[in-house]
Amino acid sequence: MRDHDHEIVNKSGNRPFADVLRAHMSRRSLLQRSAALSATGFVAALAGKEVLEGLDDDSNKQNNSRRRRRLVRFKPVSLADGNAEANGAVPVISSDYEYQVLIPWGTPIRPGVTAYTGDPNTRPSSADQARMIGIGHDGMWFFPLEEADENGEFPEEANERGILCINHEFGRNTHVLGKEAPENIEDVRLSQHAHGVSVVEISRNRRGRWDIVTNSRNNRRIHVNTPMEFDGSAADSALLSTPAGNPRLGTVNNCANGYTPWGTYLTCEENFNLYFGATNPDAWTPTEAQDRYGFSEDGAGYGWHNFDPRFDLSNPQYTNEENRFGWIVEIDPNDRSQAPVKHTALGRFKHEGIATTEDRTGRLVGYMGDDQRFDYIYKFVSAQPWRQMLENGNSPLSRGQLFVARFDEDGTGRWLELTIKNPALASQFSSQDEVLTYARLAADILGATPMDRPEWTTIAPDGRVYCSLTNNSRRETADAANPLAPNADGHIIRWRDTPRGGRFEWDIYIIAETTHGTRESFADPDGLWADPDGRLFIETDGGQKDGLNNQLLVADIRQREIRRLFVGVNGDEITGLAVTPDRTTLFCNTQHPGNGDPTETNFPALTDGVTIPRDCTIVITRKDGGIVGS
Ligand code: FEO
Ligand code: CA
Ligand code: CA
Ligand code: CA
Repeated sequence: MRDHDHEIVNKSGNRPFADVLRAHMSRRSLLQRSAALSATGFVAALAGKEVLEGLDDDSNKQNNSRRRRRLVRFKPVSLADGNAEANGAVPVISSDYEYQVLIPWGTPIRPGVTAYTGDPNTRPSSADQARMIGIGHDGMWFFPLEEADENGEFPEEANERGILCINHEFGRNTHVLGKEAPENIEDVRLSQHAHGVSVVEISRNRRGRWDIVTNSRNNRRIHVNTPMEFDGSAADSALLSTPAGNPRLGTVNNCANGYTPWGTYLTCEENFNLYFGATNPDAWTPTEAQDRYGFSEDGAGYGWHNFDPRFDLSNPQYTNEENRFGWIVEIDPNDRSQAPVKHTALGRFKHEGIATTEDRTGRLVGYMGDDQRFDYIYKFVSAQPWRQMLENGNSPLSRGQLFVARFDEDGTGRWLELTIKNPALASQFSSQDEVLTYARLAADILGATPMDRPEWTTIAPDGRVYCSLTNNSRRETADAANPLAPNADGHIIRWRDTPRGGRFEWDIYIIAETTHGTRESFADPDGLWADPDGRLFIETDGGQKDGLNNQLLVADIRQREIRRLFVGVNGDEITGLAVTPDRTTLFCNTQHPGNGDPTETNFPALTDGVTIPRDCTIVITRKDGGIVGS
């Protein structure tokens, strides 16, 4: 029904902060200089030549020159080669590229800790796990240590050394503990410490090999027992306090990510409900909100609630503990002493990730997916221009407006504000704090469009926002934005806000099913990242067709050509995307390789049929040293 080549003509003037941050400024230089820069000067300085070239759709001249240059030239992995290597026990990469493994689960982040290397007869202690790379590698970002110069150019060292912030989304008990369920609090602590985030310095040696810098003072682990702060209006709400009065600890199921123009990392809490359960099911009846967020007696079988009362829904001392999860959390990569901050202004739902930009008034804008079948796409807009908020000592993420998307059949859409000022919400909620904490219920009332599992968002150089809708096996009724029922293999939707930001125009970029049987074959799009030249990196999480494992592909957005760069191992998911400032090094992850089963793969160890496979980062470079994706 929809014309997939439909062009969006509105221009919001948005810029991807990918360019902003990566191309031109480190946090320190920004903080020092932002006061002196006018908004215009800053954007001009940040946007840079590459980006400006790609911005103006109306310029035929620029479009033509862009078309003449092939953005994606590498030799793709063919369907035949895609799963040929050792029956999927090891990855496959384009012959123009090479890869190396970095920071697998169990890598010490400090000197003096013994590495866990996949011995099936043992596991790390919980204390050691808190000083090691966790499991479930997912969203991440690379922050150079060096500052950019006046022209926004980074020194060469910025491409050879930096801080990697990386999410550890999850690890099943069978993988982390080597058994179905924890038997004591030590088992629970091991599982909890394998979750969360790692902040680690990494560097490249003269031979081109990347490794962790274990003696860096920047390294830290953030996990389920790390002290947290909250900000935003709901921070001091009774909804976030428990009768036990226990401290606010931990982040969990850290899925995808974002980053801010002031140089901080954003980690997004997704399936937090799965870690809660009820030791006394008879004493627990789910509230409407607990139901809507998917809490159940057993969660996903992690069993934490059996030994850690914080996660016991039937323990009245810990009522509301679950409201402390489901937020976006800000981490300062450069300051180990700073507690991560949960931003209640961005709403509580199963946060997949966030793509940030600024609108024409200088306000920070963030686009966010809530990954569940029939859940929604959200937008946050800061209360004031973000530089002004920073200058006044406030986080731009602490105050603003939260919206949810309604996709109309005619290719337009509307951002509906989740505000207690709306009578429809005022009649159901007692405060804005409640609206934010139970954002899903508020969005239901406003008539948001139920989507086919919104995963990552990213913003292309022309200002369009892309969002992967990974699949929805339960959809029975198609609509224009979710045109397949059921939707087995997913699609990618995109939109562009109108200049004032209240509405948007959208179209469908690609339906995965249409690629099956072709050299572009992929399914279940999940990780997405648009580079400043107009390449779209697509990562998959689900059963691929045509004999493939999960994969990393690169699309030339304008030419709509997709090439396969990397294919993972059996049972894994390819996720997480980060680059060095010069983009000659790209980091992605293999998550849950073999689902922990050593008969499927032993990666990254040599194939021996015994060693436990471990989640790890894959460092990808072009053999000729060119930009990754080209
Ligand atoms: Fe954690 Fe929706 O992927
Ligand atoms: Ca995902
Ligand atoms: Ca997924
Ligand atoms: Ca995952």
